[in-house]
Amino acid sequence: MRIMVTGGAGFIGANFLNLLVPRHEEHHFINADKLTYAANLSSLAGIADAPNYTFAQLDIADASAVEEAFEEHAPDCVVHFAAESHVDRSIEGPRAFIESNIIGTFNLLESARKRWGKDNGLFHHVSTDEVYGSLGDTGMFVEDTRYDPSSPYSASKAASDHLVRAHHRTFGLPVKITNCSNNYGPLQFPEKLIPVMTLNAAEGKPLPVYGEGLNVRDWLYVTDHCEAIWKVVTEGKVGETYNIGGNNEVRNIDVVKIICKLVAEYQGKDASELESLITYVKDRPGHDMRYAIDASKIERDLGWSPAETFETGFRKTVHWYLDNTEWIDQVRSGEYRNWIEKNYTNRG
Ligand code: NAD
Ligand code: TYD
Repeated sequence: MRIMVTGGAGFIGANFLNLLVPRHEEHHFINADKLTYAANLSSLAGIADAPNYTFAQLDIADASAVEEAFEEHAPDCVVHFAAESHVDRSIEGPRAFIESNIIGTFNLLESARKRWGKDNGLFHHVSTDEVYGSLGDTGMFVEDTRYDPSSPYSASKAASDHLVRAHHRTFGLPVKITNCSNNYGPLQFPEKLIPVMTLNAAEGKPLPVYGEGLNVRDWLYVTDHCEAIWKVVTEGKVGETYNIGGNNEVRNIDVVKIICKLVAEYQGKDASELESLITYVKDRPGHDMRYAIDASKIERDLGWSPAETFETGFRKTVHWYLDNTEWIDQVRSGEYRNWIEKNYTNRG
């Protein structure tokens, strides 16, 4: 297969390519990425010269550029990761989310159906559990939970999911959708909870917990997500949606305390010293309280289950950020500093 991986220079896309390019020499992988602030080609250094890998800079919001990329690279499968992905940025400036996540997905769908016609090719759409909105104290998201997005980010992902399904039902485009819970692991841009807290704890900076820190996320190690996507691409049913989750519900404040413990252990300090850096800051508007995924469909139908436990995955992740200072220095460009200043100033 010729597989176009959009957003392959971001967190999950890069982990996906690093895992699959060496393993599947029979497939050719085209990494189509705009290279926004969230991308980093150095994350792909290990596969950059692989004969079955090509990088092509592409803005999916540009319809004619997408057309040309389909002409040039002739993919017969698209695995669509590319998106603006950070909720706080979608509150600060939602337009880019509409352009990349909605228009961008639409452009890819249109080029795919033009090139493939009916019942040919495969469009795999990578989405999030945030489309389902917020849970109360009980219950879990299943594949037919009603969509109820809260943020411009989740609303844009919900819109893209609807377009993907519409292209299947109306035009016969072969599609598959996965909705996954929060990922953690190496190569995540340090604007998201786990890298922010790990790096701040390591540097003795305040640990900014939104609201009371009682919001719950269901954490999944990134390569477990990548393996699940690959299972669905290769064995899943066309037209189906699969929820992916780790069965790892943790309150934000507990995540931060675990990070303090792991960083303290690494630095030979006392965890309480790092916990004293915890600072409660103004809550995120529209902050979803709890996410939890019921992944029994993918477990039952495709035999997928996560390989990492929370304990093993978290330790590996925290150590990765502490060990890979070169990667960290590289991503903390001027743009990164601007964001940190904008998001955390006057939040106290
Ligand atoms: P990320 O922000 O780390 O990376 C996104 C990548 O997409 C970047 O390389 C960026 O350059 C690229 N991109 C953005 N706009 C583009 C455009 N217009 N054209 C081409 N490329 C563009 O995101 P991530 O965390 O790796 O998430 C990847 C996908 O997985 C997203 O669709 C996201 O909604 C979904 N997802 C993420 C999580 C999570 O916890 N991170 C969970 C579930 C689903
Ligand atoms: P995040 O990593 O942004 O993922 P998402 O919003 O997509 O779930 O945030 C995870 C949780 O951590 C979310 O409840 C918001 C919270 N959070 C903080 O408390 N402080 C922070 O500095 C960040 C970035 C997030």
